[in-house]
Amino acid sequence: MLALWVKALHIVAVFAWMAGLFYLPRLFVYHTRQELGSDSDRLFIHMEDRLVKVIMRPAGVVTLLAGVVLVGVSGFSWGDGWLSAKLLGVLGLVIYHSSLERYAFEFRHGRRLRSERFFRVVNEVPTVLLVWIVIWVVVKPSI
Ligand code: HEM
Repeated sequence: MLALWVKALHIVAVFAWMAGLFYLPRLFVYHTRQELGSDSDRLFIHMEDRLVKVIMRPAGVVTLLAGVVLVGVSGFSWGDGWLSAKLLGVLGLVIYHSSLERYAFEFRHGRRLRSERFFRVVNEVPTVLLVWIVIWVVVKPSI
């Protein structure tokens, strides 16, 4: 029973984290159009800061911690092929998250180093990683 409660918490945290990972680059797309130092520039900086600190970081931490606990309480082993393949995707999401935090830092310090098109392309990354992760954890193809 405990494993099911932990899995429920894991999946809810995944939803919240993924929502932030999809939404933040969208904010960056429109932020690139705002004049440096304008009211709207400051508004986007505030929205991005709140999204990262209030939703993405806590949800990411709960996703990872609940995942680790799940391995233990569900009797899986860290050597299971599906879990290793899944964790590769998870590593990709963690790297992606930290890149987004760096872009938010750049906007906060008035550095406009990347184009609107760059953020539109970056926005597709979590979709690919999510499909990879969900296939490995649900289907568990044998490798
Ligand atoms: C340290 C990172 C993580 C670990 C150790 C981990 C581990 C696990 C384990 C052991 C399960 C239970 C599998 C089962 O009962 O069949 C699970 C379920 C799940 N995980 Fe993770 N996970 C992690 C991160 C993630 C991330 C980042 C995502 C999505 C973006 C994710 C999505 C899911 C989903 C959708 C399920 C439910 C699968 C099902 O019920 O069939 N996990 N995870």
